[in-house]
Amino acid sequence: MPITGIYGPDDFANRPQGKPVPIRVAPARTGPPLPMPSLEWTPEVERATAPLYDRVKHVIPPIEWPLMAPTIKAINELKRARGAVILAHNYQSPEIFHCVADIGGDSLQLAVEATKVKADIIVQCGVHFMAETSKLLNPDKTVLIPDTRAGCSLAASITGADVRLLREKFPGVPVVAYVNTSAEVKAEVDICCTSSNAVQVVESLNAPTVIFLPDRYLATYVASKTDVKIVAWKGACEVHERFTGAELRAYREADPSVQIIAHPECPPDVLGEADFTGSTAHMINWVRAKRPRRLVMITECSMADNVRAELPDVEILRPCNICPHMKRITLANILESLLTLREEVTIDPALAPRARRSVERMINLKN
Ligand code: 13P
Ligand code: SF4
Repeated sequence: MPITGIYGPDDFANRPQGKPVPIRVAPARTGPPLPMPSLEWTPEVERATAPLYDRVKHVIPPIEWPLMAPTIKAINELKRARGAVILAHNYQSPEIFHCVADIGGDSLQLAVEATKVKADIIVQCGVHFMAETSKLLNPDKTVLIPDTRAGCSLAASITGADVRLLREKFPGVPVVAYVNTSAEVKAEVDICCTSSNAVQVVESLNAPTVIFLPDRYLATYVASKTDVKIVAWKGACEVHERFTGAELRAYREADPSVQIIAHPECPPDVLGEADFTGSTAHMINWVRAKRPRRLVMITECSMADNVRAELPDVEILRPCNICPHMKRITLANILESLLTLREEVTIDPALAPRARRSVERMINLKN
């Protein structure tokens, strides 16, 4: 059913001026960082990284490999020496996703895997909210983010005070927050969701109306799949909101056999053209199962590269848009992070238990 209402900062005259709480990091540890390993391209590096190059040979030209391989080898050695694990989102570049990550996946998979991690150190190759989620679920472990500027337009669109204003306007209505929010927002809501489980989470509340924030397009998608009335927030993903239905129609007119799959953060006219809509993990599983000959994948560009590395027989056509926040994470700053153990993510102890409860409620939902 159509969205019941959509609110934003301008709709609240008494809204306190405030910005989303920036990611918190621990003060730098004392003690010198480990020495920088050699990053020379040698026959030994070539031999040691050959199996990794095999995984990405369809998406990384041979001429670029000597620039990456020494850092990849150094990261993998240091990771073992530090007892660290690297979690990488599906939007990380192939040299990270396929060559240094221990666990890759969508936001839900990364959150679930974060609960099972044995290592003492987690290096989160993704954006703030993913690192915060890992820290919430592993309060006693060291969670590192290689670049603290890796934010998210959705997480930046709403504050904890905004959630309180929505609650005042809709007393008694439960609030679902997409995981793409700060810990401060998670602390104010009843439960989190990801794009993999948003409809299931909304329906699990058994309420006639649910406040769903902050992504207006994901909210619109959820509303189209349920009879629960949805009140939304005016946030949007700066990557997915740029796609248009017209560009998808042009692809289909050029080749009617093309298959189009899209992330639910896209506007409704885009989803209206798609043959399948799903989270990043659901899209990957769809491609694995269907093996389309020609595919348009409406999401972040690296995801197409990661899928092509695995399934080179699927021809993936552009368009795609780059997430500038995801691209803050590089091999160089992952190495730096492991050498210096920075930046270490911390969560305000006044918020952490409530924010953790919202994430755990989602993870503990029965399928
Ligand atoms: P997924 O949960 O589908 O991986 O999406 C996360 C995200 O940030 C998409 O833009
Ligand atoms: Fe946020 Fe969009 Fe980037 Fe995902 S792709 S991290 S939702 S800005």
